[in-house]
Amino acid sequence: MVKKLDQPPKYWDRLFAPSSCLAMITTVDAEGRPNAASYGTCTRVNHDPVYISFTTSVGKDTANNVLATGEFTVNLPRWERSVLEKVRICGLAFAPGVNELEKAGLTALPAKLVKPPRIAECPRHFECKVEWTKEFANGRLMVCGPVVAASVDEDSVDKDGYVLWDRVMSAHYTGAPYSNGFVAAFQTMWVDRPYDGPEAAAYDQNEKKMLKEL
Ligand SMILES: Cc1cc2nc3c(=O)[nH]c(=O)nc-3n(C[C@H](O)[C@H](O)[C@H](O)COP(=O)(O)O)c2cc1C
Repeated sequence: MVKKLDQPPKYWDRLFAPSSCLAMITTVDAEGRPNAASYGTCTRVNHDPVYISFTTSVGKDTANNVLATGEFTVNLPRWERSVLEKVRICGLAFAPGVNELEKAGLTALPAKLVKPPRIAECPRHFECKVEWTKEFANGRLMVCGPVVAASVDEDSVDKDGYVLWDRVMSAHYTGAPYSNGFVAAFQTMWVDRPYDGPEAAAYDQNEKKMLKEL
């Protein structure tokens, strides 16, 4: 198994890229039993400190566990058929207390600072505390909180904490209307901006300041 590198906070923002990802989110219930579920709605919603958000449904094990324990761990899988098959298994509605990691044949790895485990087969992990939840749209629950620890397979980032795209192989979910489709999100292109008005200069200045602070 590839060694996991603990990443310092200054690298967490660059580790969660692109900013919205397919994820398997682990939680534990009030008795400490682990649960895993798949989420296509997992998004990095703040740079510094890094916050992650996702939506689930009221009454789901993930929702109950997050409300009971205030913790969740985000695991980002690769765009790899064998892992995505397991992502689909974790999307099934198993009874409360059933460990989806065992059902899917995934390996639990203890997290560093929270109880929900990391999933060894995923190269990137974000351990989070719940800061707020919001019910909306008749039964949906949005969950949001800061990252308190992050780790990564040692072969999947460079020495400055930037992801190696062909190693992390980020995936998006096509969404429920497509049922079983996944989009590869790791083909990159560095793009010019053919406009040099004052807005461009202001943007660059702001970006430079932000990157310096990060
Ligand atoms: C690829 C994939 C993506 C999913 N994304 C979401 C999502 O973003 N939000 C959601 O509420 N359910 C999503 N689901 C469905 C949940 O994973 C499913 O409801 C699961 O049973 C929840 O498990 P739990 O009861 O253990 O929390 C997704 C399922 C799959 C397979």
